[in-house]
Amino acid sequence: MSPPLRYVAKAAHALLDAKKLHAIEPRLLAARDEMFADVRLLESRAPIPAAKEPLDAGFIDLPAQLLAEHKADPAGSLIGRIETAASMLRNEIDRLVLLGIGGSYMGARALFEALCPRYHNELDREARGGVPRIYFEGNNLDNDAAAALLELLNSGESNRANPLERWGIVVISKSGGTLETAVAFRLFRKALEDFYGADSDESRRLVIPVTGEQGKLRSLAQVKGYENVFPIPDNVGGRFSVFTAVGLLPAAALGLDVRQLLQGAADMTERFRNEPPGSNPVLDYTATGHLFEVEQGTHIRILSTWGSRLEALGLWYDQLLAESLGKQERGATPITVVNTRDLHSRGQQHQEGARDKLITNVIVESPSSPSLGIPESALDQDGFNRLAGKSMPELMAAAIAGTNRAYADAGRPTADIVLPTLSEHTVGQLLQMLMLATVFEGRLIGINPYGQPGVEAYKKNMTDILNRG
Ligand code: PA5
Repeated sequence: MSPPLRYVAKAAHALLDAKKLHAIEPRLLAARDEMFADVRLLESRAPIPAAKEPLDAGFIDLPAQLLAEHKADPAGSLIGRIETAASMLRNEIDRLVLLGIGGSYMGARALFEALCPRYHNELDREARGGVPRIYFEGNNLDNDAAAALLELLNSGESNRANPLERWGIVVISKSGGTLETAVAFRLFRKALEDFYGADSDESRRLVIPVTGEQGKLRSLAQVKGYENVFPIPDNVGGRFSVFTAVGLLPAAALGLDVRQLLQGAADMTERFRNEPPGSNPVLDYTATGHLFEVEQGTHIRILSTWGSRLEALGLWYDQLLAESLGKQERGATPITVVNTRDLHSRGQQHQEGARDKLITNVIVESPSSPSLGIPESALDQDGFNRLAGKSMPELMAAAIAGTNRAYADAGRPTADIVLPTLSEHTVGQLLQMLMLATVFEGRLIGINPYGQPGVEAYKKNMTDILNRG
């Protein structure tokens, strides 16, 4: 197991009044107490006071609970059942269509991009280790995107005995009533039933719903007799559900080690619970963001990921922060960038634009693939022979240090989240850190981080318009 994730905010704190950092500590500890009191309240099954509704704090201790449950009953536990279903999918299909939107989609995509080979879908089955290709749909009302995937799935000889043509669906919706996902499920379910036969065993086995304890998808699953249906607990909100079957089933189907993911998340919850300000990534990250916002009007949070594999994780975080705290005309605005790519697009604004941004770098210290060395060139037409012999990670480290220095020279705040490497264990820590920090900030500023009442407005108008037509 690699060393734990670190949060380092020395550069940002140099631009803050140290007294303010110290003065906020009692409020931090009170907000942390409130979060764990919420967990105990849920566990007690006592009525939830109206002011606390909705209360989706179930995600906080869930990773440790799932691991404990697995230890006690490896095969019958949720992890055991997920691993069994995932291994069935790996054996039986070569293409997995994942239908879901928002919190029912973005976590799985973040895990896929962070932890699977970049060109996973282009690799042949052997090079993929027998793991299916994955396609994400049901996250839009985009005719051409859905049509293109249906065309791809139907482009073979329609031979269900051919292992490379076989495909399946994981459909994820907690409410079961989300239009984008429901419409896509109709389209792809029909295609799948046409392929295997509507009454075939495959049509019951190779569609796996992940849904709430009640709702339209749950009822449909019963009517259809799907062999595997996985739950999303009532007390875990969509964007906090990556460590339920929502993220774990796709991750396991992709051959990822879900127990290490959960271990990373459980470890982060323990650090949050026990460590004091100064060595607690959740407390320290939140305190920095909050103080810059209230003291300096820094209300834009840039998550600056160094490397392409963390882009989807950044988009997952954009949703998490925006949907959780963007309420009552408040809440910081999250923006994800991928560097060094976006130094050539947003970099100018970050260096010299309005002083309304806190930049948090996400840095992976060691690459997963062997380091590429910069070759000599006989022509040296670009003049970069002076870099020959250096490695890509060395260039990246110089870009990070050079950018941080340029921001520091201009009085622009930066902090670093450092992962020793990208692994299930470190990504588990990072996702849980950001979920805890989001709820923690909500408790600190008096905004309920759970629920998303504002999202209903567009849905209502869309339904009215469709009902009129
Ligand atoms: O965070 C949330 O709760 C939302 O983003 C939901 O995940 C999203 O709206 C999808 O909802 P559902 O899973 O009910 O289809």
